[in-house]
Amino acid sequence: MKVLVVGTGAREHAIANALKDDCELYAYMSKINPGISKIAEFKQGDEGEVEKVAEYAVEKEIDIAFIGPEAPLGKGIVNELEKNGIKCVGPTQSAARIETDKSFMRKLFEDYNIKGSLIYKVFDNSKDIEEFLTDFDKDVVVKPVGLTGGKGVKIVGDHLKDNKEAIEYSKEVIDNVMGGFAQVIIEERLIGEEFTIQAFCDGEHLEPMPAAQDYPHAFEGDKGAITGGMGSYSDVGGLLPFMTQEDYDQAVEIMQETLTAIAKEAEPYKGILYGQFMLCEEGPRLIEYNARFGDPEAMNVLPLLKTPLVDICQAIVDGTLDKAEFEDKASVCKYIVPDGYPETKYAGEIIEVDEETIEDLGAKVFYAAVSAEEEGIKLSGSRALGIVASGDSIEEAEKIAEEACQYVKGNVYHRRDVGTTALVQKRIDHMKEIKN
Ligand code: GLY
Repeated sequence: MKVLVVGTGAREHAIANALKDDCELYAYMSKINPGISKIAEFKQGDEGEVEKVAEYAVEKEIDIAFIGPEAPLGKGIVNELEKNGIKCVGPTQSAARIETDKSFMRKLFEDYNIKGSLIYKVFDNSKDIEEFLTDFDKDVVVKPVGLTGGKGVKIVGDHLKDNKEAIEYSKEVIDNVMGGFAQVIIEERLIGEEFTIQAFCDGEHLEPMPAAQDYPHAFEGDKGAITGGMGSYSDVGGLLPFMTQEDYDQAVEIMQETLTAIAKEAEPYKGILYGQFMLCEEGPRLIEYNARFGDPEAMNVLPLLKTPLVDICQAIVDGTLDKAEFEDKASVCKYIVPDGYPETKYAGEIIEVDEETIEDLGAKVFYAAVSAEEEGIKLSGSRALGIVASGDSIEEAEKIAEEACQYVKGNVYHRRDVGTTALVQKRIDHMKEIKN
C-alpha cells in the first residue's frame, strides 16, 4: 500500500516512523525534515497548496493520505484529495470545523447536550464584550474563533492581568480579524490539571489512546511564555498519575458524543481527534479540540503503538475501526528548542545531533522545525527536535530522555524538569487540592 504523510514537523516524523515498515511511504513537506527524508520518497512544497498536494498524490498513485497539521485541513485538503480518489486519514473541511471554528464546536456541545462544556460567548463588537465582562465574576480566556497557529489564545492570570485587559485584547482580535473571523470567543477560565486524549476515529467509532500531559511553558518550573509544548509524558496503564479511570472514561464519552454530533451536523469525522481537557473538581471539561495528532503528544503514543498504524489507517477509511493496542509503558518527550525560544534569534544556525548514541541509550529522535542542508541540520527558530524515551515508569523514561538530550549540541536548550518526579508530584498535589 502507498501512504502519503502530509506535513513537516516532529508529529509527522512520528507518524511516518510508525508507518514506514508496513507500506511504501511518501511525504509532502514544506521543509526537508531530516528524519522523514531518510524513510520516505518526498516532495518539498507548501502543504497548504492543496491542489498541488493532490496532484502529487495522484502522480504517485497514493492509496491513503495522512494529514499531519491543521492548516491544510482548514483549507479543505481532504475534500481535494477525495475528489481525486484518494482516501484520507483526516477530516473534511466541514468536519474539521471542530478545530477551525471554535463557535461551531461550543454550539455543538449546546445543541447536543454534550457534558463537559463551560460558560462562553461569541462576540462581534466591543459594546457587548464590555457589558458581558463588567458583570462577569470569573477570570476569562480570550480566543480567536479561527486558527492562529496556537498563538492567539490569551488567559487572564497568565498573559492578561485582569478582565479589563481581556476587553482590550478581545477588541484587538475582532479589529484585526485574527484567525479569519471578525469575532472573538470569551470563555470562563477553568481551574484544574490539563490532559490530552487522542483518538482514532472512523466517522462513527473512536478508539482512544493513552492520556498524555503537555508542558506548554517555555521555562523550567512552568515559567515563561506559553509555547506549542516543551515536552510531554504518559504513564503505564494509559492514565496520568493525577487522574482516575472514571475521569478518563468520562473524557472519552465526551469525545464519542462529539463524534456522533459532528456526523449529524457536518460530515462523518475520519482521522485523529485530539481532546484537550481540564480535570476540574467536578470531572473533565473540554478546553478545545484539534483535528489532528498533538505535537508533542503524538510522540508519546505512536512509539508505543503495537497495532500496525497502516492497518488502523485502512480501518479508518473503511469505517471498520477496531481495537488499537499499545505497549503498557510510560513515555517522556523533551523538546530541544533554540536558545531564546520562542524568539527566533538563532534561526539559521547548525546543530549536531548524535542520533546513534541517542538510539543506543534507548531513546528516539523526531525532527521538527529544522531542515536538512548540506552543512548539516539547520535551526529555523522554532522547536527543533523531540527526544522520546519509554520505560516501566515515568521516572525511568525521564532518565533516558534526559541523558539522550545531552547528545544534541548547539545553541539549544530543553526543560530538564519535563517528566521529573518532582514536577509530576506537583500535578498530583494540585489535583488533590482541587478535589478537596
Ligand atoms: N500540544 C498542543 C497541540 O498539539 O496543539
